[in-house]
Amino acid sequence: MENSKLKKLLDDMSLEEKIGQMVQLSGEFFNNDDNVVTGPRKKLGISKKQVFLAGSVLNVVGAKKTHQLQEEYLKHSPHKIPLLFMSDIIYGLKTVYPIPLGMGATWNPSLIEKAYQNTAAEAYASGNQVSFAPMVDLVHDARWGRVLESTGEDPYLNSLFAASMVKGFQKDLGKNRGIASCIKHFAAYGAVESGREYNSVDMSERRLKQEYLPSYKAAVDAGVEMVMASFNTLNGIPATGNKWLLKNILREEWGFNGILISDYAAINELVAHGFAESQQQAAKLAVEATVDIDMQSSAYVNELKSLIENGLLNVEKINDAVWRVLLLKNKLGLFEDPYRGANEKIEEKSLLTPKKRQLAREVADKAIVLLKNKDDLLPLNKHSSVALIGPYADEHELLGLWAVHGDRKESVTINQAFSEVIESKHLSVAKGTNILDDRTMLKGFGLSDESIDKMLLTDTQKETEHEKAISAAKKSDVVVMAVGEHTLESGEAGSRTDITLPYQQKQLIHDIANLGKKIVLVLISGRPLVLTDVINDVDAVIEAWFPGTEGGHAIADVVFGDVNPSGRLSMTFPYNVGQEPIYYNELSTGRSVKTSKHSSRFMSRYIDAPVTPLFPFGYGLSYHRAIYSNLNVNKNKFSSDESIKATVDIENNSYYSGIETVQLYIQDMFASVVQPEKNLKAFQQIYLSAHEKRRVTFTINVEMLKFYNTNLDYIAEPGDFKLYIGKNSQDVLETNFTLLG
Ligand code: GLC
Repeated sequence: MENSKLKKLLDDMSLEEKIGQMVQLSGEFFNNDDNVVTGPRKKLGISKKQVFLAGSVLNVVGAKKTHQLQEEYLKHSPHKIPLLFMSDIIYGLKTVYPIPLGMGATWNPSLIEKAYQNTAAEAYASGNQVSFAPMVDLVHDARWGRVLESTGEDPYLNSLFAASMVKGFQKDLGKNRGIASCIKHFAAYGAVESGREYNSVDMSERRLKQEYLPSYKAAVDAGVEMVMASFNTLNGIPATGNKWLLKNILREEWGFNGILISDYAAINELVAHGFAESQQQAAKLAVEATVDIDMQSSAYVNELKSLIENGLLNVEKINDAVWRVLLLKNKLGLFEDPYRGANEKIEEKSLLTPKKRQLAREVADKAIVLLKNKDDLLPLNKHSSVALIGPYADEHELLGLWAVHGDRKESVTINQAFSEVIESKHLSVAKGTNILDDRTMLKGFGLSDESIDKMLLTDTQKETEHEKAISAAKKSDVVVMAVGEHTLESGEAGSRTDITLPYQQKQLIHDIANLGKKIVLVLISGRPLVLTDVINDVDAVIEAWFPGTEGGHAIADVVFGDVNPSGRLSMTFPYNVGQEPIYYNELSTGRSVKTSKHSSRFMSRYIDAPVTPLFPFGYGLSYHRAIYSNLNVNKNKFSSDESIKATVDIENNSYYSGIETVQLYIQDMFASVVQPEKNLKAFQQIYLSAHEKRRVTFTINVEMLKFYNTNLDYIAEPGDFKLYIGKNSQDVLETNFTLLG
């Protein structure tokens, strides 16, 4: 539709209709049964008429369902303005990829862009038009459950992934393909104090701009259509009512003209924050901060009309918000075709296709991080006899908490995948124990007693399973133990203070280790776990994350050597939880344990633990052996309008070919604002054949040296710099250069 016609539509709309476009409700509200006098509508205090004026719906997916709802909805719409279908499609719809923390470990944004294109195709055919993804929050604290959804702790790497995921979702959006992306949670949600969900965030504007905003900005520059405000306060002001953040930064400084949506009931929560005295004031504050859509609260639907009629709110602000909503609906072609991609036949052909599964397997292969491989135990010989032990040995639940629409029974278990590789007589399987044995915690997740009974092994069964595990281990050459977090222990509202493996899993590992068998530990988790108390009991460790639909196949690919693991951590694994938040690009402090001249006590350290993590950012092993040498720069001094070339030689000292992620870090030695000991500024993924030697070249320019100074100018300062190139953030070669004044 021409914008002129769209503008006329806006002018023709009643105030109720306009306000309706600023409301989003979940699917159950649209239950057409008139005598639903209780339930969601009553709880929220809104009428059926108001429901059918709401401009968008949350988490209704499926060609048939969306088609039916749109058809019914349009009957109630005075101006036939189509309903917008939005949903949490975070890392896959039916074909589910590894969690984003695993995707971050691929260090391959272009591969991930393809994954998001595939997801958009599934979502499009299922009648979805907007996804609340990617989550682009930078994370430092593994206690926070939502690190699952992030690509990690580095601003540069996160920015590359943010842009690639948005482009993947929105490819050909204007040509009636793809879906609109809604990034979240704006802003700095990943910095919640103590890693506790929905907690406060407080930091300098300088740090916010230096570390936390870049990935959102990269998404805006990539053309993201929508942004979701975060639950948290930022320096005392809830993001949902934060005019400085939403209006000044996002809209005015960055030029974002898309839709701003609140998080779930977050406008209403401005009262609970103590920021608004009433729901009416909350609605006013949110509109003035330019939040266009109220997700699942009654603030806008019940308060905006009276605010306008009492002259407390300028109707132009409503018109601006509604205009942005209508523009997106128009861009998606909904006025011409309200059903867009929703087509059962296409949907059936689009979901979980072999090609999409193959890509999911490739992403899962590349997301796996090999953390330990003592005496090159891995890869296993396909003729060895293997005991596959642990609660994840034959478990379909490999998708993670946010695979809202995923189908667990479609995921390939580790046992299924192993059975395709080794003969059955060489494979014995035993669950050994429960993933989570804490009935109180499970009840705390709202699970019923009967569902918990179905989930948990009884004491007798546990004994039997334990004996089965011991005897399986005894008769095998090697043991593969599949352990980890329960799905409900990570993701939203999954903050934990103890991020070690649960007692019963550790006990099983110790019991098997006491048999003197070689053990490969396969971890299924939504976060970096503390492995310090098991790492010495096992010979090899693979972090598989929640690996998605093809998780079992990917784990088998790596364990038996069909894939040479190339994953590199995008988030630090702590030595213990007391170190959190811990991340690689910290400041050196005045008393670094590496350089301080003070006596051993009086340095920046713990007296009961090391300051170094168990596994650092960028870390991961492979079956090949990369030897780095000859780091050189073509000149040691350059001015801001020049650049320098850095070269490094890498030899693959093995007969395995594989992917090597060559990482480049820079340290500004002296600056008006102290800079981190290392900042990732570039990386290259190269494919090395067996015994191949390659020279890799990087270009270094002034852009890589910029930071926010005390005036919040983004500048580079002349002076000395260190250049590091290596296989992770610790294991690097070093040289230096100077930026001339
Ligand atoms: C949740 C999450 C957000 C999600 C939204 C809709 O509370 O914070 O990430 O998109 O509600 O489900």
